[in-house]
Amino acid sequence: MHSHIPVMLDTFIKAVGPISGTWVDCTLGAGNYSKALIDAGAQRVFGIDCDPEAVETALSNNLSRCTGFTPVVARFGELEELSVIAEVAPVDGIVFDLGVSSMQLDNPGRGFSFSRDGPLDMRMSSAGRSAAEIVNGESEEVMAEIFLRFGQERKARRIARGIVEHRRSNPISTTGQLASVIAHCLPPAPNVRIHPATRCFQALRIAVNDELGQLVTGLHAAERLLRAGGRMAAISFHSLEDRIVKRFIDGGSSAGASRYRPDLVAPKPRFKILAGGQLCPGADEIAANPRSRSARLRVAARTAEPAIAIDPEALGMPVLSGCG
Ligand SMILES: C[S@@+](CC[C@H](N)C(=O)[O-])C[C@H]1O[C@@H](n2cnc3c(N)ncnc32)[C@H](O)[C@@H]1O
Repeated sequence: MHSHIPVMLDTFIKAVGPISGTWVDCTLGAGNYSKALIDAGAQRVFGIDCDPEAVETALSNNLSRCTGFTPVVARFGELEELSVIAEVAPVDGIVFDLGVSSMQLDNPGRGFSFSRDGPLDMRMSSAGRSAAEIVNGESEEVMAEIFLRFGQERKARRIARGIVEHRRSNPISTTGQLASVIAHCLPPAPNVRIHPATRCFQALRIAVNDELGQLVTGLHAAERLLRAGGRMAAISFHSLEDRIVKRFIDGGSSAGASRYRPDLVAPKPRFKILAGGQLCPGADEIAANPRSRSARLRVAARTAEPAIAIDPEALGMPVLSGCG
């Protein structure tokens, strides 16, 4: 199995430096970020991951010998409820390196990818509904909403209808079966380079793991747990994630003030944008690790202004109207 090549790691370390004190790595994965934080001067790092296999991999990648490192198996949406974190808050820095790791993506047994057939699972942790449960149990309307809102798939309704028809006689249990059912729902598109199932697979993964809900809750928790001057960084891999991170940081900084309504008194900024807003991987990194090509890093420093309440819609979180 492949290990995970870290994305934008050096850029991140430079953008948040100088590094010291206590950090929370909300997406431990193979442990590359946690290890780099310790090497760069963090005295304590809490590495959170909802996938127990990721924690094992991270510990076998030298982190078990790092003094100051504490692994935590949890979802980062629960950040504020974790007593180990509450005991050390306020913290000096919090990082989210979002999405799945290569260990998860490249393991057919985890069911994230259609490039090699495997059980249609897609759960980063072992909890909750699998992708197969959604595909075989959800209504056509809800499935279409998932494909449209989380995958930006324009043929969402047609694909959902095709899946519902297919599953009447043949329940869909593997990634290969689902990819083939989706491909059969669509007319051939010879000039399109991506597989026709790509957007629906992304959508299902987001739905199975409540990725956007976790991100909104995690960002708000980070705001409350950081000390004034503490650093927050997020690396996102698709536009839905990046829109939430951008709106969260911009809305909490002076970039959130409206130049069209100077009469409105802008709230005092809760964040200061660092590194000019958005950072992308360079050509060398993309050549060495093509999976980095869609990465976007945003970094901000917390101010002393009080945190505000969660508003998922203001952050651009898609609402599934067919659910409920
Ligand atoms: C891109 S990988 C992180 C890689 C890591 N930064 C490195 O370089 O080794 C993302 C990791 O975050 C975990 N993850 C994703 N969403 C999570 C959530 N809501 N709570 C906890 N862990 C999550 C995944 O299980 C995966 O291991």
